[in-house]
Amino acid sequence: MTYETIDVQEMSPACGAIVEGTDLSQELTNRQFDEIYDAVVDRVVVVFRDQELTPEDHIALSRRFGEVQPSAVSAFEKDESFPEIDILEYDADNPPHVTRDLWHTDFAGTEKPSWGTLLYARDIPPGGGDTIWVNSVAAYEALSDRMKAHIEGLWAYHDSYRPYGEHVRPEMYEGDKGTDYIRDKRAQYTPALHPVVRTNPDSGKRGLFVNESMTTHIQGMDRRESDYLLRYLFDHLRTPEFQYRHKWRANDLAIWDNRTSLHYALFDYADHRLMHRIIMQGDVPRA
Ligand code: SIN
Repeated sequence: MTYETIDVQEMSPACGAIVEGTDLSQELTNRQFDEIYDAVVDRVVVVFRDQELTPEDHIALSRRFGEVQPSAVSAFEKDESFPEIDILEYDADNPPHVTRDLWHTDFAGTEKPSWGTLLYARDIPPGGGDTIWVNSVAAYEALSDRMKAHIEGLWAYHDSYRPYGEHVRPEMYEGDKGTDYIRDKRAQYTPALHPVVRTNPDSGKRGLFVNESMTTHIQGMDRRESDYLLRYLFDHLRTPEFQYRHKWRANDLAIWDNRTSLHYALFDYADHRLMHRIIMQGDVPRA
C-alpha cells in the first residue's frame, strides 16, 4: 500500500507500523485521515511517535473515527472530566488486573465489540511493558484448508467479564460493592455470540475471532470438543510469525483494529506505566 500524506514504516511482515512526522493534535485533512484509517486496517496496529496530546485532543481524534464506546461499558478508572478515557496506571505495587496474562480483543464479549482502540502512552517504565499484537487474518490464512472447512460456520460465546471471575480475581469480590458491580456488568453485557471466523468489512479479509481471555465455548459442540478446538486456535494465534511486539516510548499513540487482531500487554516491569485508552464502538460481527 502506498501513502502520500503519512510516512508508514512497516514493522513486521504480519502487522505493525510506525508513523513519524504526523502531528495528531492538529486537524487532519480528509486525505490524511483516510490514509491513517487505511494503514490501521492494513497493518492492524499503527503507532504514531512523539505526540503531544491533551485529553481533549485524544477524544477529538477518536471521534474522527466514529462513535466512542459509552464509558459505562468499561470498568476502568476514569477522570470524571474525561469519562471517554480509561486510565490504565500500574506499577509493582498496583499490578494490572485485566490487561495482562491473557491474549484478548478489547470488549469481544459485547454484542457490538469495539472496532478499534486508541492507546496513548503517557508514562513508560525504563524497561518492559511492551505490547504484542497478532494479526488474526494471517493466523486464519495459515490454517490448512481442512481446518478452515472445519471451523466454517461455527459461532462462539464470549464473556468480557471472565477475566474478572471470582476464581480469577477473588480480591474484587471482597465486600458487597465489588460483587454487585461485577454482577451488574455481567448481566448487562455478556455473553455474546460471534462467528469464529469474522470478516473485516473494510478489507473483506477474514480472521479468527476467538481469544483465550473471553471466548468460553463454541455453540452446539460437546464441551470437550469445544475446549480442544479452542485450545488449538488459541495456541495457533500465539505463533510469533503473526505478531508485532511494540516497545513503547512516552507520547506514542497506537491505533489498532480489534476486528482482526488480539493483543497482550506484558507485565514485566516494576516502575510506573500510565496509558490513556479510548475504545471505539463497533458493529455486530459478520462471518
Ligand atoms: C489493552 O489491553 O487494551 C491495553 C494494552 C496495553 O496497556 O498495552
